Amino acid sequence: MNNVSPEQLHQRLKDLEKRNRLLQKKLERSESSRAELEKSYEVQSNLVRQIIQGLEKSKHEAEVRSQELQEAFENLQLMQTKLVQSEKMSALGVLVAGIAHEINNPVSFIHGNIEYAHSYAQNLVDLLKLYQDVYPNPDNKIVSLKEELELEFIVEDLFKVLHSMQVGSERIREIVSSLRTFSRLDEADYKEADVHDGLDSTLMLLQHRLKAYGNRPGIIVNKNYGQLPKISCFPGQLNQVLMNILVNAIDAIEDFYAKQSHHQGELDAGLITICTSMVSPQWGQISVADNGLGMPEEIRKKIFNPFFTTKTIGQGTGMGLSISYQIIVENHGGTINCFSTPGKGTEFIIGIPVKQTTMK
Ligand SMILES: Nc1ncnc2c1ncn2[C@@H]1O[C@H](COP(=O)(O)OP(=O)(O)OP(=O)(O)O)[C@@H](O)[C@H]1O
Ligand SMILES: [Mg+2]
Repeated sequence: MNNVSPEQLHQRLKDLEKRNRLLQKKLERSESSRAELEKSYEVQSNLVRQIIQGLEKSKHEAEVRSQELQEAFENLQLMQTKLVQSEKMSALGVLVAGIAHEINNPVSFIHGNIEYAHSYAQNLVDLLKLYQDVYPNPDNKIVSLKEELELEFIVEDLFKVLHSMQVGSERIREIVSSLRTFSRLDEADYKEADVHDGLDSTLMLLQHRLKAYGNRPGIIVNKNYGQLPKISCFPGQLNQVLMNILVNAIDAIEDFYAKQSHHQGELDAGLITICTSMVSPQWGQISVADNGLGMPEEIRKKIFNPFFTTKTIGQGTGMGLSISYQIIVENHGGTINCFSTPGKGTEFIIGIPVKQTTMK
């Protein structure tokens, strides 16, 4: 160390200072690139945050859109049900009212004239008898024609024929009047109506389906009508509900018989029980029970859905009960419930306010 000259020392010091300066510069450079790195990291993480936010926003928007689509779909389905309902109602109403009108006139001629025909026939028979009494020994030609015609039988049968014509024409008049009550085109508005009239006219229109058919005996209808005041409603719509439910009950009884065709021995007769009552001063109730095939819970849950049917194509559209639900619940503020036991039968219970508070 003692050998180092002051010049050398000075030189070393200079070198050291130079290296120090270089190091200082390197440090400054790395400091600035660290700051830059930090800055670009911040920019990148901001970008990622923005992207995540954008994704979340579009996910939320997609959820809102799909919710809106779902609602639009449900609205469309509801609208379709309503359209089918009103289309069915008006098509059926117009058809029924038209037929009723066309039949009404000729039936009135027949019905109105049967009484005259009866009294004229009576007059003629009386005259004939008088002739017989006054001329007990007529010409041979008269005697042989009398025998050929079997006059005794004709006279006896004539009044039976006239009587059955009268019964028949009365029945046609009843059917025509039921058709009118049922279609109630003139009463498409909201008004007070007798539910029992509606039930009777609907049953009258279904007579042909209640009769014995094939191996199935006639379906018995038990009517337990209670005290029910007139109900404020759309009578035509209410009749349509009764028709839908009664037709379903008949179908279920027929299905039960079809399934038991191999059954040995007697089966219970098909039975439809209709009860009406007041369950509170403002609330009436109509129940329709059948002893048909019944249905399991998985089916019962779906019966009010539009287009739900277990029937073959052409036999059922699956709209009957969904329309009925809409008429009772939405249009009349009532309730409709179904209870069923497979193999035993089904009961529909309709609750309806006697007076409407809100009109639809
Ligand atoms: N009384 C009943 N007993 C057993 N099943 C029934 C009864 N009423 C309804 N159902 C079931 O509910 C389904 C839906 O009934 P809905 O009346 O709505 O339609 P549908 O009778 O099949 O056809 P349509 O539109 O011609 O009435 C029926 O297909 C049947 O499976
Ligand atoms: Mg039906």
